[in-house]
Amino acid sequence: MANAVELRNITKYFPSSNVLANNDVTLSIAEGEVHALVGENGAGKTTLMNIFYGLHQPDSGEILVNGQPVEIHHPDDAIKLGIGMVHQHFKLVPSFTIAENIMLGIEPNQYGMLKKKEEAELVRQLANDFGLPVDPYARIRDLPVGMQQRVEILKALQREAKILILDEPTAVLTPQEVKELLAVVRNLAQRGRTIIFITHKLVEVKDVADRLSVMRGGKMIGTRSVAETSIPDMARMMVGRSVLLELDKKPATPGQVVFKADNITVTDASGLPAVRHISFSVREGEILGIAGVSGNGQTELVEAISGMRPVEGGTFTFVDKDITRRSVGERRKQGMAHIPEDRIKIGLNLETNLDENLVVNRYKLPEFNRLGFMILSAMKRFASFAVKQFSIAAAQPGEMIATLSGGTCRRWCWRVSCLASRSLSLPTSQRAVWMWAALSLCIGRWWMCGTGRRRCC
Ligand SMILES: Nc1ncnc2c1ncn2[C@@H]1O[C@H](COP(=O)(O)OP(=O)(O)OP(=O)(O)O)[C@@H](O)[C@H]1O
Ligand SMILES: [Mg+2]
Repeated sequence: MANAVELRNITKYFPSSNVLANNDVTLSIAEGEVHALVGENGAGKTTLMNIFYGLHQPDSGEILVNGQPVEIHHPDDAIKLGIGMVHQHFKLVPSFTIAENIMLGIEPNQYGMLKKKEEAELVRQLANDFGLPVDPYARIRDLPVGMQQRVEILKALQREAKILILDEPTAVLTPQEVKELLAVVRNLAQRGRTIIFITHKLVEVKDVADRLSVMRGGKMIGTRSVAETSIPDMARMMVGRSVLLELDKKPATPGQVVFKADNITVTDASGLPAVRHISFSVREGEILGIAGVSGNGQTELVEAISGMRPVEGGTFTFVDKDITRRSVGERRKQGMAHIPEDRIKIGLNLETNLDENLVVNRYKLPEFNRLGFMILSAMKRFASFAVKQFSIAAAQPGEMIATLSGGTCRRWCWRVSCLASRSLSLPTSQRAVWMWAALSLCIGRWWMCGTGRRRCC
């Protein structure tokens, strides 16, 4: 039987970033299999799938679907061939309902009038058929990430996708949501769908995939049967050397309390109580996890800690100073950092380049600003330093944030956020610094970590 997908000798060079993202890549995927596509950040996985989905044109190479050579110039061509893609960053309209999103562009209508009831019914039926129940009238902006992803999958299935590409589908999910998604993927494969599952998480590869293909530095390293490949072997293929998979972590030795929340009360956007009388403290060198189902005040709490939302009551103390009424900028100056849950909406500006993103929270410093004019050479120097310092090989100074790979984007956001002003160590003035604490919010949960005295982060 012909393979469902054959990508032959695909090559793609991006002049804007001077990256050969796909270098003579060949990949075959059998019908009905779950095929994991793995590789480190910037390996070229998304580029390859974007080419298959018609979002990029390859410089050379050939694509076959069910044994037939095809030309895919646009996602519409891909959809017609039964290819669906759920992207790393969802492409839903937040103010629309689930039904409106799924049926966008293919709405049932009569004389140009949309048939909303019919639309919702179609979606309900589709969702039930695939065992992925949803409320067709719920608005995307009110849904947890796992449910938004389910909508993306249903959207592809509504367009009769037989080959489904899931680009890092578990990166944004809670463990429970991951479990549910993996079951959905297996179920779709049993129903004859071919799934291309991009991930870095080798345990998931073991759990869900039949075969895996590994990419490294734009090249295809090889394809293996998952049952016959151990996780250390997969890791070796990914990075090109043996990888220590167990972390030799010594017990923490936390120091003094650096951050304290005392009897904090915060309201949500509609003025209703979201956080009620919460108290906790975090010590230097400690990671504090706060667990909870999303929508239970975590977002409001982290916004209050970072200064983006006022508190109704209580106090925050940071290194013995009351910072409850301090602005975001003042908190940053003291050494606090916030890694937002949504790195695209809050953490980074996709329309700018690496240099600009990096100085966005320190552009007033004399190192970067003279009489109100930005010193571009200093910004560039600082970006080069940061790329090298943080080993973000897939990023280059001057590169637009929008063109970074998904994982590089995440790492860059983390770095930008953590480079709090007082932890800043410029290449020109290597000064000893404190990094007091980093706050991070991750998929409805957040944690705090304090680090000890360090040079840079
Ligand atoms: N539109 C683009 N313009 C310029 N360069 C790009 C573009 N898209 C991707 N790249 C570059 O191509 C390389 C491969 O990126 P790609 O997104 O395919 O990686 P990936 O394997 O999906 O990584 P990740 O696991 O981080 O998502 C990266 O160096 C990236 O910066
Ligand atoms: Mg990617």
